[in-house]
Amino acid sequence: MEKIEDFLTERAREGLLRRLRPATARKGGKIYFGQKEYVDLSSNDYLGLSSHPKMVEAAREAAEAYGVGASASRLLSGDLEICHRLEERIAKFKGKEAALVFNSGYQANVGALSALYGEGDCIFSDKLNHASIVDGLMLSGAKFFRFRHNDMEHLGSVLLKERAGFKNALIITETIFSMDGDRPDLKSLISLKDRFGCALMVDEAHATGIFGKNGSGVAEEEGLADRVDLIMGTFGKALGSFGAYIAASGPMVEYMVNKCRSFIYSTALPPAVIACNIAAIELIKEEPFRRVELLNKAEYFRRILKEKGFEIKGASQIVPVIVGENRVAVKIAEALQAKGYWALPIRPPTVPKGEARLRFSLVFDHDIPTLERLADDIAKIRGKKTGSISVY
Ligand SMILES: Cc1ncc(COP(=O)(O)O)c(C=O)c1O
Repeated sequence: MEKIEDFLTERAREGLLRRLRPATARKGGKIYFGQKEYVDLSSNDYLGLSSHPKMVEAAREAAEAYGVGASASRLLSGDLEICHRLEERIAKFKGKEAALVFNSGYQANVGALSALYGEGDCIFSDKLNHASIVDGLMLSGAKFFRFRHNDMEHLGSVLLKERAGFKNALIITETIFSMDGDRPDLKSLISLKDRFGCALMVDEAHATGIFGKNGSGVAEEEGLADRVDLIMGTFGKALGSFGAYIAASGPMVEYMVNKCRSFIYSTALPPAVIACNIAAIELIKEEPFRRVELLNKAEYFRRILKEKGFEIKGASQIVPVIVGENRVAVKIAEALQAKGYWALPIRPPTVPKGEARLRFSLVFDHDIPTLERLADDIAKIRGKKTGSISVY
């Protein structure tokens, strides 16, 4: 108990204590706390699909047809035929032979990494990879090496030094990084994997539904899906629903069905969620204007922020404005909240020290006048073009 109290006191003293904030509603790029309305700049519902009428209808129909819960894990009696239909759609969407649905992206990464790799193997992971990947590395028992973010030269040198000492090897990266909104050099990753005899896994959580002609992700956009061994993606972000998957070869999927503990020992997704996931893949195909408009708006927002002298990272719907010090990020976020924007400060350890930021997550429903007003407000709060924090 003493340990818990010490932890909470310490966190509160540093201003780092996290608290839950129950929203009363969330729709159309807005979020409500009590009666107060905010522009929601922290959601991953990038395309606004979570409240799309076709999604709501799919959920209702499936709940009526199958009931609300799946009742068991898929290896018992929870394996519904619609889940197989979903997996066939995912495999086609991702350009792979097969796919396996997981209950969340966290479970997919932790489960796959720990099932596929173990003692005697090694994993090379980008330093900014998501916590679910890091936890998967630790649980796997494989030796892991974290290379500098998107630094292919560094990865090459670590591979040269370490690869030969291990049996199986994996390189793993996100394709759109959640905190920086940037992407890796996928072509170079593929030549390194070929040269050093590794497999390559990509996490397309923030790319699926947004990038590529068919909205499948960065691997599709770059024409490299068939060169990537495992493609992970989620349904909880641009696809507006819940759950995740890994698309890979048939034998790889069959192996995971038999070995992956997060898949085996968990109740299957509710049928309504599975039906929504199928509907979401259809909507990505039917309504490409959502991703096109979103990326255009994001590009415009980046441009006007840069013109105002801000340091912006990446090139996607995730727009991180780097402010450096933690307290500056906190102050700007508080001032923005007072003006009706739900934007949160992101601080270490989530991002590297000295790179505290405001992370603006744009969604289809944000309109241009709102983004222009937001850019003006950030500039006013921050102390305009100088980037100085003297306004405080
Ligand atoms: C890159 C990345 N991978 C995996 C996950 C986990 O996905 P889920 O929210 O479905 O557990 C997230 C979610 O935050 C993520 O950003």
